[in-house]
Amino acid sequence: MSDIRVGIVGLGRLGKTHAINLAENVPGAKLVAACSYVEEELEYAKRELGVTETYISYEEMVESPNLDAVCIVSPSGYHPEQIRLAMEKGLHVFSEKPIGLDIEDIKRTMEVIHAHPDQVFQLGFMRRYDESYQYAKKMVDEGTLGELTVIRCYGIDPSSGMEGFVKFARSSNSGGLFSDMSIHDIDLVRWFSKKEVSRVWAMGKNAAYPELDDLNELETGAAMMQLDDKTMAILVAGRNAAHGYHVETELIGTKGMLRVAAAPEKNLVTIFDENGVVRPTSQNFPERFKDAFVNEMREFISCIKEKRQPEVGAIDGLQSTRVAIACQQSVEANQIVEVEY
Ligand code: NAI
Repeated sequence: MSDIRVGIVGLGRLGKTHAINLAENVPGAKLVAACSYVEEELEYAKRELGVTETYISYEEMVESPNLDAVCIVSPSGYHPEQIRLAMEKGLHVFSEKPIGLDIEDIKRTMEVIHAHPDQVFQLGFMRRYDESYQYAKKMVDEGTLGELTVIRCYGIDPSSGMEGFVKFARSSNSGGLFSDMSIHDIDLVRWFSKKEVSRVWAMGKNAAYPELDDLNELETGAAMMQLDDKTMAILVAGRNAAHGYHVETELIGTKGMLRVAAAPEKNLVTIFDENGVVRPTSQNFPERFKDAFVNEMREFISCIKEKRQPEVGAIDGLQSTRVAIACQQSVEANQIVEVEY
């Protein structure tokens, strides 16, 4: 079968990683087109990645007769409309998380996705394609931990990413801390437990970066959640981890517990010097989830070739966004919020 020809929209903090993977690390994929508002990014794609078509307008890119699929890595508020446009043009779609920021908009998008069952749709919950998370998932599914009682998740961006984040949040609505960051943890909670979240109580604080108040963003947030079988989940999300990119998950069950990345270790090196015994840490998402980003894109291309749908789809986007929105409402109302289904 000939290569799947992909056009990418967005070549920013994450888009560049997906573009490199599609051009170099995903057998059977060919990155032929790129769309961005930033001229230097398009020049880079032509020069370094061999892209032959560049666009400032996404609407024009999806008109190209040379595409089989699109990879959407634009700011979150654009995802639903860009998904719909591509689906209606007969293209397969990989979209970054979150699937959207507004429930009605997401529902409209799901209708379009469902109207094109022969086209693949995959959502970018890449943690499901990380080796450690897959190992943990297998243990949970095999019953090694017994029945789950508590799931604890940390997702904290590095302090060094603050400047980039402020730029991102100024140029476009991120959806807030829970839709932007905790969405991955909410997906993990649903994935591991196979349950939906019933109610949430969330709060937040801007201590180190009070200027985030002006952007209506939180530096650190926490949420307590109850699932529909009374399993508990605790989320901590933030943008200010001094030591690096801290993504940690703990699962507590009736027969045992496990932790994924209790410390965000970069590799197997331990340094013994005047600072004591030091373990280097992962500094950002492209580093920590390098293989997961490749694996998810390989899965997308395999699904197209094998005419099947991936495990992670639009419904996971809808349900996780419902929970993230409930967390945001809980912060604003300072009360427990029932998740609306
Ligand atoms: P960014 O702000 O660094 O880059 C945005 C890119 O989109 C730029 O290339 C810009 O030119 C382009 N763009 C903006 N509006 C556009 C439009 N209307 N049409 C065409 N191009 C447009 O953003 P970043 O951080 O790369 O985030 C992009 C998406 O990826 C977001 O939805 C974010 O939630 C998601 N993301 C996911 C991560 C993960 O862990 N899976 C990590 C980081 C981001």
